[in-house]
Amino acid sequence: MLPPVPVVIGVFAGVAALVNWSFNWNKEVCDKKWINFNEEGLKKDIQTKLFGQHVAAQVILKAVTGFIKSKNPKKPLVLSLHGSTGTGKNFVSQLIAENIYKNKMRSNFVHLFTATAHFPHKAHIDTYKIQLPEWIRGNVSICPRSLFIFDEMDKMHPELIDSIKPYLDFYDNLNGVSYRQAIFIFLSNAGGENIVQVALDFWRDGREREEIQLKDLETALSLSVFNNKNSGFWHTSLIDKNLVDFFVPFLPLEFKHIIQCGLAEMVSKGHDPDIEVVETMARDLNYFPKEERVFSMQGCKVIPARLDFYV
Ligand SMILES: Nc1ncnc2c1ncn2[C@@H]1O[C@H](COP(=O)(O)OP(=O)(O)O)[C@@H](O)[C@H]1O
Ligand SMILES: *[C@@H]1O[C@H](CO)[C@@H](O)[C@H](O)[C@H]1NC(C)=O
Repeated sequence: MLPPVPVVIGVFAGVAALVNWSFNWNKEVCDKKWINFNEEGLKKDIQTKLFGQHVAAQVILKAVTGFIKSKNPKKPLVLSLHGSTGTGKNFVSQLIAENIYKNKMRSNFVHLFTATAHFPHKAHIDTYKIQLPEWIRGNVSICPRSLFIFDEMDKMHPELIDSIKPYLDFYDNLNGVSYRQAIFIFLSNAGGENIVQVALDFWRDGREREEIQLKDLETALSLSVFNNKNSGFWHTSLIDKNLVDFFVPFLPLEFKHIIQCGLAEMVSKGHDPDIEVVETMARDLNYFPKEERVFSMQGCKVIPARLDFYV
C-alpha cells in the first residue's frame, strides 16, 4: 500500500531541507570561519618552504602581517614582486593565500589573473577595461578581504592597469564600496636582470648571499622599473602615485636551492627524499653565466616535471 500523499511530501521536504542545510554549512562565506589569518603559519611556511629568498621573505612577512593586523588600513595592500622566472613569486603568493583562506587558492575570494590567458587580445582592450574593474568591484562588495593576484603584470596593457588604479588608492570608498581590506599582488620579471647583476656582483666579490639587503637591490629595482619603456606597467602612474606599498625582489636561485626544491618536491610526491637522485637531476639543469654556472636558468620551475625522469 502506498503512503498518503502528505507523508510523502513531508518526507521529501525534510530531505530537501537537510540537503540544503548541509550544502550551506559547507558553502564558503565571507566570515571568520573561512577567512582567518594564521600569522604563525605564514611565518613558518615562509621560513621553511621558501628557499633562498631572505630579502623577499622578510619584506612579505612584515607587509602582510602588518596590514592584516592593522585596524584601520588607509588603502589596500599592494605588493609588486619582481625577479626572474621560477624564483618563487607565484609560490609565495600561494603561501599567503593558504594562511588567510581556509579554501586556499580555491577560495572564491582569491582571484588569479594571468595577462596572456585572461587578457590576451589587444583588440579587446576596451572590453577588458570594463570587465576587470567590474570584477574587482563585484568581488570586493561580496567580500572586502579579497585577494587579487596578477601574474605577468609586465604583459598587461597600460590602459588596463590604469583601469584598476582607483581601487589601489587611498579612497575611503568608491560608490559605497571600500577597498581598504583588499590585497593586490603583482608579479613580473621586470627588474629581474638587475637583481641578477647585484647577486652576481656579491658572488664575484666572494660575499655571502645572505649579506644582500633590500637597499642593495632598491636601486636595481627602481632603475628598471622607471626606465624600462617597453613594459606597460611602468608607463602608468602606479609608481609615481605611490600606489605600490612594497617592491619585493626575488633573487636568482643557486644549485643548493635547486637541491632544496628537489627534495621538497620528492616528499610532496610521496617519495622518500633521495639526495643522489636530486643531485643528478640538478646537475643536468642549465646554469648561468656560462663559465661560472652560479644561477639556475629557470629557477625551480622545471623541477616537478624533470624529477619524474630520475626517480
Ligand atoms: N624560492 C623557492 N622556494 C621553494 N620553491 C620554489 C621557489 N621558487 C620556485 N619554487 C618551486 O617552483 C615552482 C614554480 O615557481 P613559481 O613560484 O611559479 O615561480 P615564479 O612565479 O617566480 O616564476 C613553485 O611552485 C615551487 O614549487
Ligand atoms: C569575481 O571575479 C571573477 C573572476 O575571478 C569573475 O568571473 C566574477 O564575475 C566576479 N564576480 C563578481 C560578482 O563580479
